[in-house]
Amino acid sequence: MKKQIQIAIDGPAAAGKSTIAKKTAELLGYTYVDTGAMYRAITYKALQENIDLQDEDKLTYLLKDTLIELKPSPDGQLVFLDNMAVTEEIRSKEVTASVSAVAAHATLREEMVKRQMEMGKNGSIVMDGRDIGTHVLKDAELKIFMSASVDERANRRYLENQNRGIETNLEELKQEIALRDKLDSERQASPLIQADDAIFIDTTYLTVDEVSEKIMQLAKERMS
Ligand code: CDP
Ligand code: CDP
Repeated sequence: MKKQIQIAIDGPAAAGKSTIAKKTAELLGYTYVDTGAMYRAITYKALQENIDLQDEDKLTYLLKDTLIELKPSPDGQLVFLDNMAVTEEIRSKEVTASVSAVAAHATLREEMVKRQMEMGKNGSIVMDGRDIGTHVLKDAELKIFMSASVDERANRRYLENQNRGIETNLEELKQEIALRDKLDSERQASPLIQADDAIFIDTTYLTVDEVSEKIMQLAKERMS
């Protein structure tokens, strides 16, 4: 039984990646890495420091000089930027609207991917994002590409925001998600794309538990 596998979960915004990745990691006793939170953290810092989001060199230098840490907690994953907690701040409307522009820069991604590879190198990891199966964990034993209709994804984000006490407009959310999907899929540097060896799961009509069960079954197959 090979126990320490790598699991890569990719897909568009609000497909359920982090919910499922976190749950799978808990069930297996693995580490969970939310790579989207890392891109959000550097975007938050760039906005705070008024850096031109088109300036690839400046943003890459900024990242090289920045400590981003992800720490598990009973309330979910906590995100620290230069030792400061930014878990909530990185989910703001401003960061969400700017993150795809920052994540499009090739040299910034190189630095990010280097850090993520280091985090995943010993296995026992579930990592979610956009380029995990295609770039970060290319040899992962299990690769999942998860999606759902844009209506369903917007609805999920809407309900999620409501539960966090944040009022949002469903139509605006749908447009924001569709635009981010387009930017993430059409960029030159490691675009959002399904890896050849990834398993596609359409979660539109599946509950969190149903998706989780499916992935646990696949993980157990890969471990044996
Ligand atoms: O949770 P949500 O789907 O809204 O997004 P996220 O996973 O937090 O990712 C935020 C953004 O970071 C994405 O829209 C991508 O632009 C970027 N990202 C990326 O380029 N590569 C990754 N591996 C993860 C995120
Ligand atoms: O990480 P990503 O942006 O792909 O999505 P997420 O933040 O994990 O999921 C967005 C919301 O959809 C969460 O509130 C989940 O509980 C919910 N969800 C769902 O209702 N049904 C699923 N099959 C998966 C997620």
